Amino acid sequence: MAVLPIRQVPDPILRQKSKQVRSLNGSIHKLISDMLETMHAAPGVGLAAPQVGVLLRVIVLGIPEQPDIVLINPKIVRKSGERLVNEGCLSLPGYIGQVKRAVSVTVKGRDQNGSEIRIKADELLAQALEHEINHINGILYFDELVGMDKPRKIEPEESRL
Ligand code: NI
Repeated sequence: MAVLPIRQVPDPILRQKSKQVRSLNGSIHKLISDMLETMHAAPGVGLAAPQVGVLLRVIVLGIPEQPDIVLINPKIVRKSGERLVNEGCLSLPGYIGQVKRAVSVTVKGRDQNGSEIRIKADELLAQALEHEINHINGILYFDELVGMDKPRKIEPEESRL
């Protein structure tokens, strides 16, 4: 396991669309364990593979007091409700901005063993799932700021997605 450097805005890799994972091999398992370690070291509540320079559809989530989640080829299949939240990103430390997120989302994907999983999430986990799935599509939260909002400066330790 290793803590990897997190790519920072404006690294162009953050704007590319990631590819589907076709088979689970040793290099994917190593990527997953490195991503988990990197997320916890940041510390963050979520991380997507492009943030460590790998254009594959892999995300990890680590909401405090909940078990870590690994999702391969995740897809949002249902969204409901809307809420305004302040959001930051480990690829743009020191800033947050206000975005609209779903109240709850249902996501389908595979876990690290290749088994199909379906997660129904709300609150921070729903927000983190939307944020990380955007990352694998090259979308960053400040593309979606509400109204005239601009990323505001905060203490870097608050940038957790
Ligand atoms: Ni992020």
